[in-house]
Amino acid sequence: MKHTGHRATCPTHGQSLLWRVVLRVREDLSAAMEEDPAATSKILVALTYPGVHAVWAYRVAHVMWMKSPLLKPWARVLSQIARFFTGIEIHPGATIGRRFFIDHGMGVVIGETAEVGDDVLMYHQVTLGGRSRGRFKRHPTVGNRVLLGAGAKLIGPITVGDDVKIGANALVVEDVPPGEVVVGIPGKRKIGDVIA
Ligand SMILES: CC(C)(COP(=O)(O)OP(=O)(O)OC[C@H]1O[C@@H](n2cnc3c(N)ncnc32)[C@H](O)[C@@H]1OP(=O)(O)O)[C@@H](O)C(=O)NCCC(=O)NCCS
Repeated sequence: MKHTGHRATCPTHGQSLLWRVVLRVREDLSAAMEEDPAATSKILVALTYPGVHAVWAYRVAHVMWMKSPLLKPWARVLSQIARFFTGIEIHPGATIGRRFFIDHGMGVVIGETAEVGDDVLMYHQVTLGGRSRGRFKRHPTVGNRVLLGAGAKLIGPITVGDDVKIGANALVVEDVPPGEVVVGIPGKRKIGDVIA
């Protein structure tokens, strides 16, 4: 049998870095258009959406963070510059998937050991924070296609499953199984209609 290997199976293999960046930028803009009914054009989104700017700054800072310990302080500087302009603080050490969209954005905090899956929608004033200050995994892990409502606070090294919806202003301190809707303080599971 012919060995196909990585080259045949990886859709981005052989593409230049520039082309991959262009593709990622385009999918970030498409995600914003899809998630925000008020978005009218990709150009306007690219120019005026702080949530999109913050994610792009994070992606550069994250590459610096992962590349070399010497670049880590500069990655922090870049993320603080992004915070100054957008009001969104994403630690460069956080791990964030594709098509992540932060709508409105102001007041978002994403901690160093947070992990966020693909196609996650987050509104303003969400915190993915720690409950302790040690140098270990102390921030949440969020699955794919999760909605994080405005003002939601997720704290501690909890796991939020795929397709979960966290309501506006919920406080979540425990694991959430996939597909659940969680609202309130502390968060309680509800049977939502899964349209929001
Ligand atoms: C949690 C959420 C995703 C649930 O959506 P849904 O699946 O359509 O669920 P429903 O609207 O049917 O609500 C299910 C139950 O939770 C309650 N509920 C919904 N959102 C709530 C919230 N944020 N806080 C407290 N209770 C809430 C509803 O009253 C309902 O209660 P009931 O079963 O006692 O009648 C949605 O209400 C929400 O908060 N989305 C975030 C929106 C947001 O942040 N918008 C900002 C735009 S700028």
